Amino acid sequence: MEGLSLHYFFSLLMVTIVALEGLAPPYSSTATTTKIFQFNVEWKNVTRLCHSRPLLTVNGEYPGPTIAVHEGDNVLIKVTNRIARNTTIHWHGVRQIRTGWADGPAYITQCPIKGGTSYTYNFTVLNQRGTLFWHAHYSWQRASVCGAFIIYPRMPYPFSAPIHAEVPIILGEWWNVDAEMMASEMMKYGSGPNYSDAYTINGLPGPLYPCSVKDTFTHLVERGKTYLLRIINAALSDELFFAVASHTMAVVEVDATYTKPYTTRAIMVTPGQTTNVLLTADQIPDSSGMFVVSARPYRTSVFPFNNSTTVGFLRYKMTKALKGKSLNTPTNLANDNLPEMENTDFARDFFVRLRSLASTEFPCMVPKQIDKRVITTIGLNLQDCPANKICTGLNNKSFLASMNNQSFVRPSTSLLESYYMKRNTGEYSFDFPEKPPKAFNYTGVDPLKENMNAEFGTKVIELEYGTNLEMVLQDTGFLNVENHPIHVHGHNFFIVGGGFGNYDVEKDPENYNLVDPPERNTVGVPSGGWAAIRLKADNPGAWFVHCHLEEHTSWGLAMAFIVKDGSTESKSLLPPPQDLPSC
Ligand code: C2O
Repeated sequence: MEGLSLHYFFSLLMVTIVALEGLAPPYSSTATTTKIFQFNVEWKNVTRLCHSRPLLTVNGEYPGPTIAVHEGDNVLIKVTNRIARNTTIHWHGVRQIRTGWADGPAYITQCPIKGGTSYTYNFTVLNQRGTLFWHAHYSWQRASVCGAFIIYPRMPYPFSAPIHAEVPIILGEWWNVDAEMMASEMMKYGSGPNYSDAYTINGLPGPLYPCSVKDTFTHLVERGKTYLLRIINAALSDELFFAVASHTMAVVEVDATYTKPYTTRAIMVTPGQTTNVLLTADQIPDSSGMFVVSARPYRTSVFPFNNSTTVGFLRYKMTKALKGKSLNTPTNLANDNLPEMENTDFARDFFVRLRSLASTEFPCMVPKQIDKRVITTIGLNLQDCPANKICTGLNNKSFLASMNNQSFVRPSTSLLESYYMKRNTGEYSFDFPEKPPKAFNYTGVDPLKENMNAEFGTKVIELEYGTNLEMVLQDTGFLNVENHPIHVHGHNFFIVGGGFGNYDVEKDPENYNLVDPPERNTVGVPSGGWAAIRLKADNPGAWFVHCHLEEHTSWGLAMAFIVKDGSTESKSLLPPPQDLPSC
């Protein structure tokens, strides 16, 4: 009798354990809490590709620690800078309602955190759920200073498949050299950056790179179970294709907003974007028990780039049939599902097929009417070399990038602080052009016949609280056409339209999707084309808008919005925190 009840007790316990494991994420209906984290920015010796070097990390981890919170939580992250360089951290995609001081981009919302000092980022995660990420927002430090930022929902996921486990997958890049040093060289000579030495999955390059078989991402799965992959593109220079051999995936969320599920053999994810997919381990593995997981660039630019592939594995748990057989690393590392690097058709289809979930619970809040339309070119420039400089960009000129021919210069104190303190430093002005300075065939330009010099400045657009804004991003053919991932801080936007060629202000708006356009924080503007985004400027503060290809940000492909306070306190920016760093 006793034995029986013990047995009964144990089977109950088993059920509970299984149920808990299956119950990902940790749903919680309890009141919101404060989650506290300590981030030490510090050097750590790391070896990849037979190269050992001091790598900039948070808490010695590469990639950095995962931040996991619940929707509604107050988050306090104390960042202590233990290096002799400046730093800041940005919570990419977190809306930062009224807490612009905690957004992180250096010289936009704060002065850098100097070596030996700390700053506590204090914000509340409101009305967002899903996968985002955090990264350093100073020079090229985000090459290694980044990690997942997961927001668990208060309500169950709106998809039915029971999720067995969740797997963060951070796609990144590894340099054998110090990325920040490389960036300062590049800026000094107006040249392009060295491309990275490897792509990585969770910091691991995988078997196609030298000395890297031991540094290979492997995830154990159980046949028949469904997994939620939280895919983050933390790379600096490349849009990426990602796929798992022989398996399809269902996209269910992008940039922490739910989508209508759709099934695909691969995804395209730009730097700054995140994509959640459901993957069911429904295949029969060969004797290796493994399936290839891989990522490689989607390439549109003509400049030299890293054309390699990062490979990892899904390893099926030993089934009876496999027991006793020795498991070898598969010799075939090919992945039929992974698009070719030039596959613009795949990238375009992926872009076109994304839709907001637009359900009663999660309605699509796209502005149907707009108060203002800003049309801006995005592209590269070649700048005449200043007399006192050596320039090693094309034709002994220096590479630059711009929006509406304005190459953004970061001010010497933070934009937000100057604006808030009403300090008229003369360092910035409110006259960012709302349309291109001259109309031409943007995507068909012969660069050598055009005047390529941009203007330098810190020009912003000031918006009344609540403005329904449309921004049309028009790629140019200066130097080359290219897919640009444009990221907006402090707001999500809706991608209401897009296409190849030149935007037509008369015709194109007729084809906008104002019903269920995808909601994101980063849009991959089609190479040689345009994208129209809409947002409600309901977050007072100073918000950086920039290309998430790091070299383009460095070259000035950026601008900023200043959103004014609304009519009440609850629509106004909070005062700056006591420990806000000064310049
Ligand atoms: Cu992910 Cu301004 O950055």
